[in-house]
Amino acid sequence: MTIRAGVVGNPVAHTMSPMIHAAWIEAAGLDADYGKFLLPLDGFRAGIQDLAKQLRGVNVTIPFKEQALGVADWAEPLAAASGAANLLLFNADGIEARNTDGLGMLVALTEQAPKFEIANQPVVLLGAGGAARGALAALLQAGAPEVYILNRTLERAETLADMDKRAFALPLGWAAEAFEEAGLVINATSVGLSGVDDLDLPLDALPESAVVMDMVYRPLQTGLLRAARARGLLCVDGLAMLIGQAVPSFEAFYGRPPPAQVDVRSICLKALGQTETAP
Ligand code: ATR
Repeated sequence: MTIRAGVVGNPVAHTMSPMIHAAWIEAAGLDADYGKFLLPLDGFRAGIQDLAKQLRGVNVTIPFKEQALGVADWAEPLAAASGAANLLLFNADGIEARNTDGLGMLVALTEQAPKFEIANQPVVLLGAGGAARGALAALLQAGAPEVYILNRTLERAETLADMDKRAFALPLGWAAEAFEEAGLVINATSVGLSGVDDLDLPLDALPESAVVMDMVYRPLQTGLLRAARARGLLCVDGLAMLIGQAVPSFEAFYGRPPPAQVDVRSICLKALGQTETAP
């Protein structure tokens, strides 16, 4: 029987997850597919209940990562700790929530900023939605000494900061102060997605050694990464993270690791009209 999985979101048209999973499915010769499903903003639970009858599981993207935890019958520790899930598995005995975003983020850092050491300096996390939640839990688990969460809506950042005594909430207007000591800046807001204005941040305040990462991968060269590169800062792109979170998702859906010989990054870069391999 065909193993079916997919990604749910709103919007969902921009996602490259189907391209990644399709390449792996084909190379592995699996009887499987991976679709994309636009769920109504007010109909996440009903949509998931419907899909649970047909699929093995789904990845969850903007803006449903927090709601995803709410529809699950149980959650693995990282999803529970972060209060968000990007992976739902429709098991025979109920819905299981996992969070592979944090792992994807750490993989991306290892690949594109291999000398970066998380324990040395504070991290500035931009955003306080579902993507930021997964990132925060993983950063804390990986040993970040302090994480400053900056968000347009301060209350949301404060709720996240309550997760751990090493996490602090600040308004976006405090970016310059937060940047002064930062070793890593991560954009976990949806700003930068095609058609949305880029964040206008005071990158000049960052130390020369700071690494700048954007979770947005479409466009790959977001305004934030372009500005960081212009300052000579090392950049980590959202595509590395997308592929990093897709690996454990594939394994959970299809019961085997993705075939290593497939260069999914090149496939995605081609689709994005990019030729170079790093931002
Ligand atoms: P996701 O699941 O991808 O995290 P989300 O939960 O909708 O999606 O979160 C989106 C994040 O992007 C939030 O931090 C949001 O800020 P608010 O909490 O203030 O809404 C942030 N965001 C979206 N559009 C923004 C904008 N134009 N300027 C600043 N932040 C923005």
